[in-house]
Amino acid sequence: MNDFSQRILDWYAENGRDLPWRRTPEPYAVWLSEIILQQTRIAQGTAYWHRFMEQFPSVKDLADASEDQVLRLWEGLGYYSRARNLHKAAKQMAERGAFPDTLEGIRALPGVGDYTAAAIGSICFGIPAAVVDGNVYRVLARYFGIETPVGSTQAKKEFTALAQKLLPQEAPAQFNQGLMDFGAIQCTPQNPDCLTCPLQVSCNAFQSGRTQLLPVKKPAAKPQERHLNYIYVRYKGETAIRRRGSGDIWQGLYEPLVLPRPNGRLVREKVKHQLTHRTLLADFYLWEPAHRPALPEGYFWIKETELDAYAKPRLFELLLEQI
Ligand code: ADE
Ligand code: SF4
Repeated sequence: MNDFSQRILDWYAENGRDLPWRRTPEPYAVWLSEIILQQTRIAQGTAYWHRFMEQFPSVKDLADASEDQVLRLWEGLGYYSRARNLHKAAKQMAERGAFPDTLEGIRALPGVGDYTAAAIGSICFGIPAAVVDGNVYRVLARYFGIETPVGSTQAKKEFTALAQKLLPQEAPAQFNQGLMDFGAIQCTPQNPDCLTCPLQVSCNAFQSGRTQLLPVKKPAAKPQERHLNYIYVRYKGETAIRRRGSGDIWQGLYEPLVLPRPNGRLVREKVKHQLTHRTLLADFYLWEPAHRPALPEGYFWIKETELDAYAKPRLFELLLEQI
C-alpha cells in the first residue's frame, strides 16, 4: 500500500471518531447519517440522527410517516429538499422491500449523489468507491500540493481519480472515513495541526509553507439581498399561515403573512437570514386587526396554540420569539 493511505489508516485506527452509526453499519442508519451530514456538522447532525432513529427506527417507519411529520422533525437543519428526498427514498425502498446493495442502486435513490453513494457503499457493503467531500479535497490538495481550484469540474475529475487510486481495495470504509475524520480533526481548514501530523514529512503544503494557500478556491459569487415583510397576524387567539409550494426555497414549510406593504406594528427590523445564494433581510410586524381580515391566496387560520405542529423555516421561528 502507498505511504499516504497506510498513514491515514493508522491515524484512523487511533483517532477515528466514535459515532453511533459506526458501531453497527446498518444501511438504514448509515444512509440516514450521510443524508443529514451532507450539509450539517457532526455535533448537530448526531442529535438529529438520534431523534430520527427514535421516531422512525426502520425504513418502513419512515416510509409510513407523512411528509409533514418528516419535515417537522427535520426543522432547523435547513436544505429541506434533503428531508423530502429522504422520505421519497424510504417509500421506494419500503415498496421494494430491501436496501440497494450496489453502487448504482444506491446512487439511484433520491437525494443520493456520488459522494453519498460512495460513503454508503463503502461503509455498509465494502464497495471500493472513494468518497470526495470538502475534507478530502483539502487534505489531498495540501498533501500533494494540487493547485486546481476546488469547485470546478476539472477539480472534481482530478481529485476523484486521485482518491480512487489511493483507496486501499481491502479497507474502503476505513480509508474513506479516515480521510474525512483526518480533514475534520487534524488537517482542519484554519490552523491545521501540522506539528503533531503523521504526514508532515511528506506533506507538500507543510514542506513548502503553503498550508494557508491550499486548497485554492474559486471566488464565490456575491449573494443577492432580498427584503421581506413578515407579519404575524393575531385575531381572537388565531393566526394565519400558509404552506409553501414547490419551485422555491422552503418547499412544504409553513410561513406567516408575507406582504409587499407591511401592516401592524414593527417589532424588529432587518433580521438577517443567510441562504446559499441569497441574503434575506426581514422586518417583523405584529398586526392585531379589529375585524377578521380577508387572507391572501393560500393562507388559512389556525389557533396560535397549534403553531407547534407546523414545520417552519428558521426565520418564522425568530419572528415567533419576538412576539
Ligand atoms: N461526514 C459525512 N459523513 C461522514 C463519515 N461517514 N465520516 C466522517 N465524516 C463524515
Ligand atoms: Fe494537513 Fe499539516 Fe498534516 Fe499537511 S502536515 S496533511 S497540511 S495537517
